[in-house]
Amino acid sequence: MKIMSGNSNLPLARAIAAYLEVPLTDASVRRFADEEIFIEIHENVRGEDVFIVQSTSYPANDNLMELLIGIDALRRASAKRITAVVPYFGYARQDRKPGPRTPISAKLVANLITEAGADRVLAVDLHAGQIQGFFDIPTDNLYGAPTMAADIQTRYGGEDLMVVSPDVGGVVRARSLAKRLDNAPLAIVDKRRDRPGESEVMNIIGDVKGRSCILIDDIVDSGGTLCNAAQALLDQGAKSVAAYITHGVLSGAAVARVNSSALKELVITDTIKATDAALDSDRIRVLTIAPMLGEAIRRIADESSVSSLFD
Ligand code: R5P
Repeated sequence: MKIMSGNSNLPLARAIAAYLEVPLTDASVRRFADEEIFIEIHENVRGEDVFIVQSTSYPANDNLMELLIGIDALRRASAKRITAVVPYFGYARQDRKPGPRTPISAKLVANLITEAGADRVLAVDLHAGQIQGFFDIPTDNLYGAPTMAADIQTRYGGEDLMVVSPDVGGVVRARSLAKRLDNAPLAIVDKRRDRPGESEVMNIIGDVKGRSCILIDDIVDSGGTLCNAAQALLDQGAKSVAAYITHGVLSGAAVARVNSSALKELVITDTIKATDAALDSDRIRVLTIAPMLGEAIRRIADESSVSSLFD
């Protein structure tokens, strides 16, 4: 087995390699003067089972292109099997046509990864589970919930917990976390705009009064959804609000927004390399999912069950 890394999240790739006790494959990524990407693998990979680790996070297009070129280099070097390990699968939010004459970019990206030569895909908390069906190659979707649940038990175990989905689309994810927290009760933030042009109203479905709320989501990007939901919960009498979100995209002023929000803390995972601003924030904490990814990779290499990781 070989583990190769792109540049999007080297600390995670190193942690996965350390878990598996294998060195990272020696490869270099260079750029031509016009920013074209060039990848060279400096060791033999002929006949090897290779896992290439690359999140397609910011800058999304550069990181995606690096992944595609890395897969192409491995294919042309006669790797036996190539697994694209994409802890954060960017473009996933574009999984349907929101209106006429719009693309389904998540499907396009799935086609590109397959066409480049990947034999399998391994991702974490895909924005929508059905994105697995965009690939015609085996695709494993791992879940951050067990890692989060263990942390929540340690930090908030003795409290009167309520798991909250910040929108109707996230209810399945929230329910699965609630199950792992001794069937904690569930609440849902329902955003409504009664008439076009009127500002959005947040309705909370469920009684959050006096509860320690745990907001769960797959992505925090601008932080708008999260910070507004936290405020709405506190307005309804919640005791406190902490958030557990798998992918800390945290674009633009998101970290500043979180720092000045009503949130007790925001816990993200390391599917995306945290920025210095995020690491410096005393409101943001990072949980590692490297052991989970490492274990899934070991099981794929051994041809044993990956789903049983979540039993
Ligand atoms: C949306 O369906 C996602 O699950 C997230 O809620 C959304 O991407 C968060 O975006 P933002 O932080 O920009 O509100």
